[in-house]
Amino acid sequence: MADAESLIALCPAAQLIERGIGLRFDVIAGGEEASAFVVRYRGQVHAYLNRCAHVAMELDWLAGQFFDSDGETLLCATHGAAYDPASGRCVGGPCAGHGGLRQLQVLEDGGVVYWRPDLDVRPRRVEPPAG
Ligand code: FES
Repeated sequence: MADAESLIALCPAAQLIERGIGLRFDVIAGGEEASAFVVRYRGQVHAYLNRCAHVAMELDWLAGQFFDSDGETLLCATHGAAYDPASGRCVGGPCAGHGGLRQLQVLEDGGVVYWRPDLDVRPRRVEPPAG
């Protein structure tokens, strides 16, 4: 796998059920502690910073519950902002005009879901090198 050292294993791929409960994980975003999440939608994994574009609040009141009842949008539990699960784009509610969710890069390989951190959204804890 290319750039394996820059990838962080998040969970077994089978853990992410289509339009099911999302996996939350801890990050540093813009220098502050925050959370992010990954979900599966139309077979693909998608990850975002867990921060609503309307007000900087986490989307899920119930941990991991990001999809609406139809499984067609990611819903912010606070005021109902709706986002396209595939792009993070705002598709309804009070996020209109505020942009969308901050997308993170994730991929599946060998039955594992990996996150590739970037300069602005990084792992909260960096493991010391072995040895
Ligand atoms: S904080 Fe998300 S809709 Fe208002």
